[in-house]
This record gives sequence, C-alpha cells and structure tokens, in this order.
Amino acid sequence: MRKLILLFGLSMLLANCEVSEEKGLIVDKAMVVSARQEASKIGSEILKKGGNAYDAMIATHYALAVVYPVAGNIGGGGFMVYRANDGKTGALDFREKAPITAHRDMYLDSLGKVVKNKSILGANAVGIPGSVAGTFEVHEKFGTLPFKELIQPSIDLARNGFKVTEKQAKSINSATEKINKVNNYTTLFEKKWKKGDLLKQEELAKTLERIRDFGKDGFYRGETADLFVNYVTNLGGIVSKQDLEKYEAIWRKPISFDYKDHKITSMTLPASGGICLAQILKSIEPFDLSNIDHNSTKYIQLLTEAERRSYADRANFLGDVDFVKVPIDSLTDTNYINQRMASFSWDKATPSSEVSHGKVLGYESNETTHYSIVDQFGNAVSVTTTLNTGYGSKVLVKGAGFFLNNEMDDFSSKPGVPNVYGLIGSEANSIASEKRMLSSMTPTIVEKDGKLKMVLGTPGGSTIITSVLQNIINVVDYNMGMQESVNQPRFHHQWLPDIIKMEPNGFKKETKRKLNTLGYEILEKNSLIIGKVDAILVLPDGKLEGGADKRGDDTAVGF
Ligand code: GLY
Repeated sequence: MRKLILLFGLSMLLANCEVSEEKGLIVDKAMVVSARQEASKIGSEILKKGGNAYDAMIATHYALAVVYPVAGNIGGGGFMVYRANDGKTGALDFREKAPITAHRDMYLDSLGKVVKNKSILGANAVGIPGSVAGTFEVHEKFGTLPFKELIQPSIDLARNGFKVTEKQAKSINSATEKINKVNNYTTLFEKKWKKGDLLKQEELAKTLERIRDFGKDGFYRGETADLFVNYVTNLGGIVSKQDLEKYEAIWRKPISFDYKDHKITSMTLPASGGICLAQILKSIEPFDLSNIDHNSTKYIQLLTEAERRSYADRANFLGDVDFVKVPIDSLTDTNYINQRMASFSWDKATPSSEVSHGKVLGYESNETTHYSIVDQFGNAVSVTTTLNTGYGSKVLVKGAGFFLNNEMDDFSSKPGVPNVYGLIGSEANSIASEKRMLSSMTPTIVEKDGKLKMVLGTPGGSTIITSVLQNIINVVDYNMGMQESVNQPRFHHQWLPDIIKMEPNGFKKETKRKLNTLGYEILEKNSLIIGKVDAILVLPDGKLEGGADKRGDDTAVGF
C-alpha cells in the first residue's frame, strides 16, 4: 500500500514536473537553470513570488556569488542578453575594465618579455569588477521587486552556510595552494574540504548587507571599497578608489542575425561571442547538414574549418569598441564569410598557418558560469559571468570575503603571445587605461517565427563560443531536446593551437582515425574547458525544458 501511495505521489509530481533520462526538467511556466541547485531555487522562488526574469537574474547572481565561489561573483563581471515578452532584445555589458593606471606593457619585464603569471595570479591581475553595477542597472531598468528582497536570500545563505558538493570540495582543494600563496592571512578556504561540509561566509554576508543597505555604493564606495583597495594595494596591486567610483555598466546593442529560419541574438563586443557565433553559423549555413551525421568526421571537419577561420579573425580584429575600430558588419557579411570558406576542402585540413600566423600554446583549466532564465510573463535573460580562471586572481578580499577576478589576462599582454586559454590577440586587444578586455562569453537567445525558442550559454574560456554553437546546431539542425543536446560530447578548435580538442570517450575511434588521416591533430583531455551549458528550450506546447549540464552540479528549477 505504501508503495502504491508513493507511486501515486510520484506520478502526481510527474504530472506537473516531468523528469526522464534524456529529458531535462519540464515545467509549465518559468525556470532558472544555473550552476547550483541553491541558486536556481532562489531565482525560481523570486519568480514564484511574482518577480520577473530580471528580478530573478539579480537574486540568482548573488546566490551564485555565495554558493559557487569558483566563478559566481561580486568581484568579477559579465554580460546579459535579454528578450522581453514584447520581442525587444538588448544587452548589458558589466565586463571588468583595466584600472586607470594600467598601461600597455604592464606585464612585460625590462627585456619586453611577458612576466609569467603576473596577469593571472595575485593583485596585479585584477580588473575593476562590474557585477554589482550590472545588477543595479538591471534593477533600475526592469526590476519590479525591492532590491532588498532579491539579495536577502543570498545574505542568509552566506551567513547560515550551504553544503559543499563532492565536485566543489575537489575544486576548492585544488585551488588551496594558490589561495594560500596569494593571500597574507588564513582564509576560510584553507581547510581540506569534503562533501557535506558546511561553508559559512560571514564576511561575505556583511558585504552583501552593505550592498543591500547602500546600493551600488555599498560596493564601490565606503567600507567595502576601503577593504578592497587597501588589501589590493597591500598586495602590490594598482586598483584605486577612483577606479571603483568610476565604474559603470553599459547597455549595448546585441549582435542579431538569422541562421536558417531562426533569429539569434548574442553578446557584442567587448564579448567576441556574438560575432564569432555569427561567422561560424553563416560559414556552415550553405552546407546541408541533413546529409551529415551528428559528430561524424564530416560534421567535425566542417565546424572545425569554420571555427579556425573565425578565431583567426577574432585574434586579428577584435577588442573593446570604445577604444578600437572593429569592422563588425564586414566580419559578419555573408560574402566575406563565403570567401573565407572558399579554401575549405573535404579532402584535407587547412593548416592554421595558411589562415594566418601565430604561436602554439597549451590550455589551463578555467571557470566562468552561466545562467538562463525564462519567467511566467515570457521574458528571457541569458547571463554569463566570471572571475576568469577558477577563483580568479585567488585574492580573497580580507574582511570582505569575496574573490577578485584575474580578468586582466583576457587582454593581449603582448600582441602575438597567447593568454591562459592559448588565445592570441593583436593591438586591438592591447591594454589601455579603463579599456575592457576582450571576452569569449556568449550569452545567447534564439527565436523562431517571432517567438522565444531557446536561452543558452556556458562557461569555458575560449570554448564558450563553440559549445554554444554546437548546442544551437543540436537543436536547430538535429532536432534534439534541451537536455539531450547538453549531454552530447563536444569538441573545439580555435585556430591556434592547431588542434581539435575533444571530450574523452565521446567520439568514435573510426571518426578520430579518419580525421587524423585528413591532417587533423586531436587532443582528448578531461578538463573544464569544454563548458557547462545551462539552457532552456521552449517546447512546441509552450512548456519549458531545462538543459542542466551534468558535467557540473548544474540544476534546473521551475514551476
Ligand atoms: N574570462 C573568460 C572570457 O571572458 O572569455
């Protein structure tokens, strides 16, 4: 009898809220998908209370800053793309910027060589954070619930603590040595963490309370700014109070383009994602994918060659549009793209050296995080935010409890010398006072026939663009459901180094052998840099399916 009741209860639950192996969570009205269950739940509760997607964005963002310190942040920055229920789209740039006293050669030694790790580890790597300013911009333009209500659940979460997951314990423990090295006091991350441990962050709770009570000034001025600037200065960094006071998030016009019968809206510069996504999708659009099996040799070959050409352009042309002229229209022009693809051949790989020049370098694991939200009113937001690599610069502001980014490494420290992702930049992305560093973040929204279809994005450094790309193709060309799409093995090429990076065990031996024969070098490596896609698909019946990446602790919550 108990069993029967249990089964009945389960089927009732499934009537509203279905979950199966390849399918993600399916709900009727509204959903948040993020890197942590706690954050998705906090965002979803705000929606349940009657808040909109923008309110939920703010609540989810602060929750991730507490529960996902590897990438969730107030000490970093990011980008938001939105589509309101009336079809209007827009984008917010809350990317970090270089300090006022930053200069082009700040990471070079007296011989003009890049000083190893100076732009990656410690106080010198820190860009001026934009996240808090971003949330206040969103609130001012679109918020409906009081800011205090949106941030309070995160204050409570920081104060009362949350349970560390197995993946998280591993992640924190792997960063401990660097955190110890960089900071001049015993941080709360120093102990050995294990699954189920409670992580309480009282200093962070107090910082969030200052933001609750004093608004943007609770971060960019007053006690938090004092703690921030004094500590960074103590550690040899150059961030000043003026830097913090001057920071502003900027509303920008997103990149919009058609792919087959879909309209794609994605982030514009200083994020390279939208431009690269447009270039790659337009490069493959003339090819009939219905004759090409998913993840087959031909499929990988076609995407790789399109990616190669786009990443070469990225390296040469892209930077902060407020500082350099970027020919966005020419780069995304169909004739130009067709010309670029004219040298593509099914018979052999195009060596990257023939597309352009550069040097080969390796990868390091990195982190960023993405969350997707659709509300019960039909608004959608797609947000990618980051500290850059995991736990950013590893500087944990003494007395204020938050990690600072190492976003300065996303600049080209020296034209032609690769950054932590092996990405090469040109003069367009060189460092200048108050300039924003080029990003790969690609928060994206897809619509069809004037209706919302998909909201997606991912972390993964340089692989962000190609992970978003593959999920669009999975759904648009291969008709996959959201979770099914997110589960698919992924691969990545970025011009230099001239290799295809693949998730281990995801691709057939025969496919890899054929690719080798055609001249493609393959690197199979288990790492974080192939992304963790968090996405929402609007199903034909109007319900929402979540795609929460099982590569992490990512979770969809909704109703
Ligand atoms: N920090 C990674 C990116 O913005 O692309």
